[in-house]
Amino acid sequence: EVTLGFENFDDYVTKSPYFGCAVGRVGNRIRGGKFELDGKKYSLALNDGPNSLHGGKVGFDKAMWVVKSVSTSAIELSHTSPDGDEGYPGEIEVLLRYSLTRNNSLSIQYQVKAKQRTIHNLTNHAYFNLGGDDILNHRVRVLADAMTPVDETLIPSGELMGVSGTPLDLRRLTRIGNGIDSTHEQMQRGGGYDHNWVLANYAGKMRRAAEVYEPNSGRMMEVFTTEPGIQFYSGNFLAGPLVGHSGKVYGKRSGLCLETQHFPDSVNQKNFPSVILDAGKTYRSNTVYRFKAK
Ligand code: GLA
Repeated sequence: EVTLGFENFDDYVTKSPYFGCAVGRVGNRIRGGKFELDGKKYSLALNDGPNSLHGGKVGFDKAMWVVKSVSTSAIELSHTSPDGDEGYPGEIEVLLRYSLTRNNSLSIQYQVKAKQRTIHNLTNHAYFNLGGDDILNHRVRVLADAMTPVDETLIPSGELMGVSGTPLDLRRLTRIGNGIDSTHEQMQRGGGYDHNWVLANYAGKMRRAAEVYEPNSGRMMEVFTTEPGIQFYSGNFLAGPLVGHSGKVYGKRSGLCLETQHFPDSVNQKNFPSVILDAGKTYRSNTVYRFKAK
C-alpha cells in the first residue's frame, strides 16, 4: 500500500484530510473566497482561515459521484455540479476516468463540460508514502525552475520566483528532510513544503513533472501531467493520530501529495494560465502516476 487511506468508508466521510479524493470545483485556495467573472462578484465559503480551499465546505471530495462504468482495470465516475454550487456560477458536468495501464501506471483523465462560463481546477489529493515511516527520507524531484511564492495565508503574490539557491530547488532528487524545516521565508510560510511549482513546457501536452524515490524499499513513482503546475504538499497539516490501512497510525508528514493543477488563486491573477471555461466548452487533462522499483 503506497497511499494513505482508511479501512472503512465512514472514516473517509468523517475524518478524511482529503485522502485519495478528487478535489474541485476549484482546487487549492482563492483569496478571501472572492472573485469576479464578467463583472459579477462571487463569494465562497471561507474554510481555510480567510480563504476558500478545495472547492469550499462541500467540495467534490464530499460529493456522491455516479459510477458510469467499471472494468478490471478502469472506473469512470461522473458528477454534475449545479449552478450556484458552493457559490460557483454555472452548471458543470465532470467525468473522471481512473485506469491502470500495462506499464504500472495509474492514469487519471479529467473532463469538465461547462453549461455557462465558469472556473474550474480539478486535482487528486492522494497522499503517497512509498516506505512506511514518515516521508522525510523520501527523495523528491520537481521539474520546475520557478514556483509561485505565497503570503502567510498561502495565497500567491502573482510573481514567479526562481528556485535556484533555495530549498524549493528540487530539480534533482532531493531528500525531503534536508529542506523541510529551512528558515527560508517560503518554507516557514508553508510549514514545510506546500507550494505550487511552475512546470516547464506548458502547452497542454503530457510531460514529466515530478519523481519520488524511497531508498529503503527502492520504490519509485513518476508523475506526468498536462497541467501547468504541481502542488507538492508534505502533509504538514496532517493532524494525527489517524488510524488507517492495517492499523497504521498517521500523523504530521506521514504522506506527501503531488497535486497537478492550475496555479492557486488563478482566477484573481491575470498572468497565471486561465481557469475560465466558456459556455459549451469541454476541458480535458490527464495525470499519470507511474510506479517502479530500483
Ligand atoms: C493542499 C493545500 C494544503 C492543505 C491540504 C489539505 O495540499 O495546499 O495547504 O490544505 O491541501 O490539508
